[in-house]
Amino acid sequence: MTIKLLTDQKGPKISKYIYGQFSEHLGRGIYGSIYVGENSKIPNVNGMRKDVVDALKAIHVPVLRWPGGLFADTYHWQQGIGPKDQRKKIVNTNWGSVTEDNSFGTHEYFELLRQLGADAYINANIGSGTVQEMSEWIEYMTMSGESPMSNLRRQNGQKEPWKVKFFGIGNESWGGGGNMRPEYYADVYRQYQTFLPQYNPDDPIYKVACGPNEDDYHWTDVVMKNAGQFLDGISLHYYTLPTGDWEHSKGSATGFTKDLWYSTMNKAQFMDRLVTKHSAIMDQYDPQKKVDLIVDEWGTWYDVEKGTNPGFLYQQNTIRDVLSAAITLNVFHKHADRVHMANIAQMVNVLQAMILTKDDQMLKTPTYYLFDMYQKHMDADLVEAEGTLPDHITYTASQKDGQLTISLGNYDLSQDQDLDFTFASPLNKITEASIITGETMDAHNTFDNPNAVTLQDFQGATVNDGKLQVKLPAKSVVSITLK
Ligand code: AHR
Repeated sequence: MTIKLLTDQKGPKISKYIYGQFSEHLGRGIYGSIYVGENSKIPNVNGMRKDVVDALKAIHVPVLRWPGGLFADTYHWQQGIGPKDQRKKIVNTNWGSVTEDNSFGTHEYFELLRQLGADAYINANIGSGTVQEMSEWIEYMTMSGESPMSNLRRQNGQKEPWKVKFFGIGNESWGGGGNMRPEYYADVYRQYQTFLPQYNPDDPIYKVACGPNEDDYHWTDVVMKNAGQFLDGISLHYYTLPTGDWEHSKGSATGFTKDLWYSTMNKAQFMDRLVTKHSAIMDQYDPQKKVDLIVDEWGTWYDVEKGTNPGFLYQQNTIRDVLSAAITLNVFHKHADRVHMANIAQMVNVLQAMILTKDDQMLKTPTYYLFDMYQKHMDADLVEAEGTLPDHITYTASQKDGQLTISLGNYDLSQDQDLDFTFASPLNKITEASIITGETMDAHNTFDNPNAVTLQDFQGATVNDGKLQVKLPAKSVVSITLK
């Protein structure tokens, strides 16, 4: 089967923010894993764990959403500033009712961003906070001149204002963020965004409204109709559960059946339908696509690992996660004209993480290697194709810096696939080719065997006379760059 890639045409740009991450005050998502404190024996820079930050720097995290999630709507930012021994200790009621000592707060978040080279995406508390509290947080972070909050920031050691790139107003306001109806939320959103001061009009803060849960198309319709003119992006949340059953069992991260492998792939593909339908609703109110769809929570969600706190959402990560994430990222690329940012949940130790830690040990998950491989698509131009690929093949082609990258996933568990590509412009040299695959369908990395699934060189592609031939192994993702 031959596919022609239309390399002579320029498609929409795939925003690098599609590779965004999310870290919530949840389980071991921040404490002990990213933030260990200056006095920890684990090597750290200003309290940030060095091994973890180094690993994340290599995948160029473009943006980090914080502090939640559900935690955001219980978070009072003033409790997380000032001398650490005076910060208020609270209970994290959403996640295991553990004590939250607020030692990771606004200053620590921006220090982490500085080390990562990432942009800020902060989620405000509109569920249990106030308009004034939100407004003062923005003043604290972004006001350069004299003011009560900027003076307080300086008093706490930060002279210059920080840059807040993205700002979310509410998280899951249809559920744990306030159980609001869309009409009510749209009005609350309008009110809060009115008091979101833009201290730097040349570089305005991008406003994200709480969008729908999965296929709640009514929510999108009402929020776009009633508040669409006041927002830059609207968020969508969708998690991939192998069983689709939130109540009883979501399925296990390892040791699953073939049926659950394939149902995971089908559920990952559902993202295409969601993005297509929500975008169509947005088109009615915003035909010029000024408002973006922001998928700020996505990824696989399994039953927690045996023996771990059910409130901590700690799960393993296998080659199945690589294929399901490839499907999802390819959907976002395909809809690059509408999807501007996505934030996989979550960066470390929670749900579909990049990194797992155990005391002073860390490992990179199979999903980490997919994010590493897919960096070539960040801020690249999408390339359209003529011809169709078999159902179990997922792909993206994009161009950047004069090179074409084709990423191909084969989620069939046993059949390799032969694929041929031609190009509308001359391309005759493979400059890089890599593969992620596993011996078994639940191949994964452990602290005893951290390199069972990694990024490897790929030898199964050749290019002759402008034709690329690929032998794509079963349960693998391959990425080939040509010039
Ligand atoms: O990512 C875990 C949780 O999932 C988030 O806190 C919440 O927004 C969602 O329900």
